[in-house]
Amino acid sequence: MSNLSRRRFIQTSSAAAAFSGTLSALAAQQGGARTLGPNDQINIALIGAGIRGQSITSTALQVPNVKLLAVADCYDGRLTHAKELWGANVATTRDYKEILARPDIDAVIVATPDHWHMQAACDAMNAGKDVYCEKPMIHTYDDGPKFIATAKKTNRILQVGSQRVSSILYAKAKELLASGAIGKLNMVSAHWDRSTAQGAWDYTVPPDANTTTCDWPRFLGSAPKIPWNGERFFQWRKWSDYGSGVAGDLFVHLFSGTHFITGANGPNRAMATGGLRYWKDGRNAPDVLLALFDYPQEFNLSLRVNFVAGADDNEGFLFTGSDGLIEIAGNSVILTRKPMSKDPGYNVNTFANAMQKEALADYRKKYPSTTQTAGVSPYIERFDAPKGYSDTYDHFNNFFNSVRTRRQPIEDATFGFRAAGAALLSNLSMEKGKVVEWNPETMKIV
Ligand SMILES: NC(=O)c1ccc[n+]([C@@H]2O[C@H](COP(=O)([O-])OP(=O)(O)OC[C@H]3O[C@@H](n4cnc5c(N)ncnc54)[C@H](O)[C@@H]3O)[C@@H](O)[C@H]2O)c1
Repeated sequence: MSNLSRRRFIQTSSAAAAFSGTLSALAAQQGGARTLGPNDQINIALIGAGIRGQSITSTALQVPNVKLLAVADCYDGRLTHAKELWGANVATTRDYKEILARPDIDAVIVATPDHWHMQAACDAMNAGKDVYCEKPMIHTYDDGPKFIATAKKTNRILQVGSQRVSSILYAKAKELLASGAIGKLNMVSAHWDRSTAQGAWDYTVPPDANTTTCDWPRFLGSAPKIPWNGERFFQWRKWSDYGSGVAGDLFVHLFSGTHFITGANGPNRAMATGGLRYWKDGRNAPDVLLALFDYPQEFNLSLRVNFVAGADDNEGFLFTGSDGLIEIAGNSVILTRKPMSKDPGYNVNTFANAMQKEALADYRKKYPSTTQTAGVSPYIERFDAPKGYSDTYDHFNNFFNSVRTRRQPIEDATFGFRAAGAALLSNLSMEKGKVVEWNPETMKIV
């Protein structure tokens, strides 16, 4: 080798060494994660392969260039079914740490019961994985800051799974509200009523459920240690040790929607009441919950879940403004516009005849035209999502885009804490029997 080429080689190799040093520093900062190009396949794994986990993983796999490598669950029957669904090559385990140790897995879906969300998602981020974590992001208020700090420290992408935030219908509602279509917003009201045992979380316990087929200690995790109980394993939403009641299960979606559409960060006051009215099967989660919230942006939010609704399942989400309504119903957004009357109108006919004439004349002097809009039929416009539209697909598409671009999605840890933190105020208010206050900016109970 000539002197010149030796010198060039030394320069190149020291530059390469410096470059690889930068890469390994970056990799260390990212917990050893792969850096993905725009066309690279994203390898995923599922943690918690129950009803929701199986359903959303099938949707996630419809996004091009995404492959499922592994599944973790505490019930063997679900691991068997994972192979039936996605092929014998998918690795299965009861211990999600085996999945997290694999360098070829880029991202994980966490669809465990709520009491495992923080631990599983933070373990995954600390192992360098990006995370799609089902709602509600938190089970206890301590979970929120841990989620936010871990996402920041590890530089991982975290998307919370309130999928409607990626819905084209919610985007339409947001656009309509911002354009002034309903004037000044003063109230958001929503209800989520059900009237069936399945709707009230009475999910089937499989006949083979026992301590051999189910990893009961692992399921319990940080929850109180109690003897095996198949109902608690398969119907965990009924107990606050694992679930977060209707507030964490359903209100949280309505908070995600309200925050996304209005741009608000959360309420500052909450009051709730309700009770266990019908499903008295040993659960401690109420089946009727009514809650009211004050937002600093001068609107109120009113939420209701009734699992004893006396009729068919029924959902509603309504934004009320000074000049109209925006309703999100099923696959549609319905705008009803009825601008507030410019004229106050009059009611004179209880006055003496002479006074009626005078009051009318006075009124006509002040309001000569007939510009009054009261009584005019409202203008109604309807926007429908295409048949078969899936907001879950769009939510995953957004997540995988973030995994590639490294730009945080809208529904990041802070958004997730603001939605779930607000929702759980309902449980707190009901337990304490009083109004509770929350700072939506600092995300702290006041
Ligand atoms: N975004 C939505 O619209 C939506 C809808 C339904 C459910 N969810 C959420 O999805 C989550 C799961 O709900 P589900 O109805 O599928 O419950 P599920 O009981 O059917 O499934 C949960 C699974 O997690 C497993 N599991 C428990 N601990 C685990 C651990 N440590 N490691 C690995 N697996 C573990 C259980 O064995 C079970 O199979 C919940 O947080 C729920 O709120 C979201």
